[in-house]
Amino acid sequence: MGVLDVFLQHSSSTSLFGALVVLLLIYIISSYIFSSKGNGKDPPGPKPLPVLGNLLQLDLERPYNTLMELSKKYGSVFTVYFGSQKVVVLAGYKTVKEALVNHGEEFGDRDLFQIVKDFNRGHGVLWSNGDAWKEMRRFALTNMRDFGMGKKACEDKIAEECDYLIEVFKKYKGEPFDTTQPMNYAVSNIICSIVYGSRFEYDDPKFTSLVDRVNRNIQLLGSPAIQVYNLFPWIGKWFSYRKEFETLFNANKNQNLQMFSHLKESLNPDMCRGIVDAFLAKKQTLEESGVTNSHFNDDHLFAIVLDLFAAGTDTTATTLRWALLLMAKYPKIQDQVQEEISRVIGSRQVQVEDRRNLPFTDAVIHETQRLANIVPMALPHKTSQDVTFQGHFIKKGTTVYPLLTSVLYDETEWEKPHSFYPAHFLDKDGKFVKRDAFMPFSAGRRICVGEGLARMELFIFLTTLMQRFRFTPPPGVSEEELDLTPRVGFTLNPSSHKLCAVSHV
Ligand code: HEM
Repeated sequence: MGVLDVFLQHSSSTSLFGALVVLLLIYIISSYIFSSKGNGKDPPGPKPLPVLGNLLQLDLERPYNTLMELSKKYGSVFTVYFGSQKVVVLAGYKTVKEALVNHGEEFGDRDLFQIVKDFNRGHGVLWSNGDAWKEMRRFALTNMRDFGMGKKACEDKIAEECDYLIEVFKKYKGEPFDTTQPMNYAVSNIICSIVYGSRFEYDDPKFTSLVDRVNRNIQLLGSPAIQVYNLFPWIGKWFSYRKEFETLFNANKNQNLQMFSHLKESLNPDMCRGIVDAFLAKKQTLEESGVTNSHFNDDHLFAIVLDLFAAGTDTTATTLRWALLLMAKYPKIQDQVQEEISRVIGSRQVQVEDRRNLPFTDAVIHETQRLANIVPMALPHKTSQDVTFQGHFIKKGTTVYPLLTSVLYDETEWEKPHSFYPAHFLDKDGKFVKRDAFMPFSAGRRICVGEGLARMELFIFLTTLMQRFRFTPPPGVSEEELDLTPRVGFTLNPSSHKLCAVSHV
């Protein structure tokens, strides 16, 4: 949907003269704002229009593509106006790393989209700042370690979930099917185990509706309509997409509140089942010791749970779906992965330690994450103070996009940035090599909280599926016809497609 369509749908001018006067005023005010913001050292960028900024130049369905183009013209630090919102874009591995790692403090705040401000109001980890963020991030990291990441128990949990997923795949008996829902449910169950302390059946409507609603909202977050709402919130209280977002958000909130109250009834602070228990136990201890102003309140609890769900399900499941699609598209690479797995592990359960003996498979997983580029603009950051960076002055409170696409596709870092080329991660002897510009989880103080868990999931899910199935295009579809164009959304999912999972055993 074009920007103008959205405007036209919602404009209701009654008088041409009045509209002209308003436009003139806006023009004068925004010319003043745009010019007064510059102090000669502002990062360069295309000239903005009043009110619309550079919106007419931006592909709102795939803004990261336009930003990649603009970086060719304006360099690695440039300014672009999303409506009247000034955004500084960081492009290329060296610049993104320098900003997020060497100037982590200055570039480390989070900027909130309007739709997030409306509903989340800065709670949890993803969308918080300051002391609340510090405390919630520390809590999430510690407890994810305790209830999941890096532990043998978690490895077993993932392997067990794989068995359920395999049963679903088997039901299709090699016929084409859409991998989206089973993959989302399997990955989501890992989060459920960590968060609530239990998994759910894939046909439990309470569970499936929760997962489907979270995923739909992530898709809405990246839709042109919601992006326009974020920039011009006054168009929007009646906007159908915002209404849909609100309905789904509230349904998830109510369902979670019910689950929290069940968990509260059976809470044993000495035997926490998951993150919700740990949060409730901490809240109880603080209340008992008379602390009334802590961040351990119901708003943060719901936000943290939703964060882990939203950030932890769609991302990992999407990456796995890209991996299967790429295996079907490049059967010779699939052959090599399967040969390596059957030579090194055979049919026993895969363990995390096996990774070091599976360099090719490891390279394929890394290359999948690089090429799939599922969070192309990371999440919006914000400067926490005035900063002079690479000779440019960036004011405190400026929105900053670290363009991860420009890192993962950096032509000075990757031999074949636009191809699926696992050799990016292999030396001449076939050993796995780390690459600095591999940054799908971002970097610095806002780096993904779930990186360890996600890496474990990707490895165990993919190797286990490869042990059991060969993935192919549907009959009548050639490998070349499998489309790698991503669907529109906040995270980059593969476009709708079906695959066949042909059982080996
Ligand atoms: C393949 C899987 C994943 C990818 C590619 C990914 C990527 C990212 C990226 C790019 C960010 C933004 C960093 C920034 O603002 O610069 C992020 C943040 C975050 N991710 Fe992930 N993620 C993945 C899986 C997970 C999982 C499994 C969880 C948790 C269960 C998780 C939880 C979070 C949280 C809580 C944040 C916010 C961190 C903060 O603002 O301090 N992610 N992730």
